[in-house]
Amino acid sequence: MKCLIDIPQLSVGEIKELMDTAIDIDSHPEKYRERMKYKRLATLFYEPSTRTRLSFEAAMMQLGGSVIGFSNSESTSASKGESIADTSRVISCYADVIVMRHPKDGAPTVAALNASVPVINAGDGGHCHPTQTLADLLTIYREKGRLDGLTVGFCGDLKYGRTVHSLINALARYNNVKLKLISPQELRLPSYMRQRLESGIMEWEETDSLEDALPSLDILYMTRIQQERFADHDEYIRLKDSYVLNLKKLSLAKPDTCVLHPLPRVNEIDVDVDSDPRACYFKQVENGKLMRMALILRLVDGDDVPLPESFSDPGLVCPNPRCVCSSERSVEKKFIFSDGEKRCFYCDHKAIALENK
Ligand code: NCD
Repeated sequence: MKCLIDIPQLSVGEIKELMDTAIDIDSHPEKYRERMKYKRLATLFYEPSTRTRLSFEAAMMQLGGSVIGFSNSESTSASKGESIADTSRVISCYADVIVMRHPKDGAPTVAALNASVPVINAGDGGHCHPTQTLADLLTIYREKGRLDGLTVGFCGDLKYGRTVHSLINALARYNNVKLKLISPQELRLPSYMRQRLESGIMEWEETDSLEDALPSLDILYMTRIQQERFADHDEYIRLKDSYVLNLKKLSLAKPDTCVLHPLPRVNEIDVDVDSDPRACYFKQVENGKLMRMALILRLVDGDDVPLPESFSDPGLVCPNPRCVCSSERSVEKKFIFSDGEKRCFYCDHKAIALENK
């Protein structure tokens, strides 16, 4: 199978190959101008997006390919009740690669299991967002010259911020990376991510103070509070302005700290910061397109990128109400072994015994 659902599917060596290809595309775009000639990419976006969708479209077009797709599921058969499995089978007849964004955790995995062409996850619910992570990694690599030995601060909505989850999963693969997790209590990492960190994969600490964390950081990853995932609107209003990075706060950081943000920003970063040389969030956008070009080439022309091995167990259930396995009738409940635990194959939440549900 060829798909990218989350970063752990790629080895550190494969990530490096993608970064090398992206840098080569940047230096010699003419070499790549026809690589996807006569190929078609389909964007299936069931959730709003500007950057990610247009970045994929620009990437495919810059490789000489063409694009089809939708950016609003209300105008599609999903609104008539079509399953993700059926839509994926149908779109496989029209396109050579599928890019899916969906509000349900794990939806692109269902697409990958049913499509006959490669599927790329462009963000699934609050779960993960691997191609944003590829953009983040290339930006860090280009700014710092390395991915090892960095102290990385994540600030804001660590609970619902899928870009945070995928980037932490990626950074765990590098040596001596330290995490500082900066968030209000209510927006700390979800339990499945915390369990992963507690299993000792990397050094980490939590704080609610951006000012305390800033002086030690090589990378500061700011995030938007994910309004659309809050069940309680009043809680969103209370938390929405938890952290605002301005020039005064940034003066606490090292002269070479690199400030990232997956965008869109609401007001987490004051616009005055944009002209500071440490602001790298617009560079991430350019790097995102290059990495998506490299990924399309890798998936359409390269070897398989398999999903982790899964198993069925009628005695287990996934406890996550936002998981695709709880809403799509045709989805077979499956589990994986990861970090010493049995987890849902689609959303990574720790499985629970059926009798405890
Ligand atoms: C992010 C996303 O969709 O998760 N945006 C993006 O793809 N660059 C972050 C966000 O929406 O806050």
